[in-house]
Amino acid sequence: LLNDRSLVSGKLMLFDDITQQVEIQEKLENQAKELKQLNELKDKYFSIISHDLKGPVFGVKELIYLTNSGIISEKEFMEMLPEVSKNMEHVAILLENLLAWTSSQLKGEYLQLQFIDLQTVIKNQKNLLERIAKDKNIEIILNGKKEIHVKADKNMMELVFRNLISNAIKFSNPNSKVEISCSPDTEKIKISIRDYGVGIPEENLQKLNSGISFSTRGQSNESGTGLGMLMVKEYLMKNEGSLEIKSKLNEGSEFIVTLPLVQPE
Ligand SMILES: Nc1ncnc2c1ncn2[C@@H]1O[C@H](COP(=O)(O)OP(=O)(O)O)[C@@H](O)[C@H]1O
Ligand SMILES: [Mg+2]
Repeated sequence: LLNDRSLVSGKLMLFDDITQQVEIQEKLENQAKELKQLNELKDKYFSIISHDLKGPVFGVKELIYLTNSGIISEKEFMEMLPEVSKNMEHVAILLENLLAWTSSQLKGEYLQLQFIDLQTVIKNQKNLLERIAKDKNIEIILNGKKEIHVKADKNMMELVFRNLISNAIKFSNPNSKVEISCSPDTEKIKISIRDYGVGIPEENLQKLNSGISFSTRGQSNESGTGLGMLMVKEYLMKNEGSLEIKSKLNEGSEFIVTLPLVQPE
């Protein structure tokens, strides 16, 4: 500042509080990072759709065409049916996971809580997967016949157990077994899905525990997407449950689901 004789008489300092700006900047950077990750996942799932869904669906389309036009006899068609049906079973699981993932990304997917008997949910999923298990000669043993009442979203629980049981089958060697057992105590219910398969290396265990998607081939070279466990974790969390994983390489793995227990009304 100058006085009337143009000499410096003082200084004026201007300060700007940029705390908020820095915060906004950080927020934007984090959002950009999240978007990038989401975009990468999206790209991955688009390529999964084209590889894993297109193949089997076009196969069935072709089979129907060939049978219809008499190039394949009815007898030959019937012989191919078990293989087709197994492929469709995989497609169904994949589609369900993809749809679940998509809707969880679109809207903050809401819970439909209801009283359900988990034993029935698990039994139904076991029956659905029996055909795939039979193919590898794997016995699925369900222990504990008592009803288990929980208050949870039925669709989400179906997806959780279907994924855990199908993984147990997938990562077992042929001629093995998968054990499912339930142990309710006073306030929590624990369901264990145990296999005697390949096991999970420490590095991958850490990824599973921190929700990082990855996929390795099953013991009969089954392919995958790494989407299942992401949804399992997310759905258990939404239903106030949790997941504990114990595993030993070449000895097998145990996935323990914990959910709050309730008395039926
Ligand atoms: N029961 C299991 N035994 C060994 N590895 C498992 C088991 N369940 C999951 N995994 C590992 O976790 C990965 C992710 O599982 P998931 O999300 O279901 O993907 P995928 O589509 O490969 O089945 C699997 O590819 C596998 O490496
Ligand atoms: Mg899986």
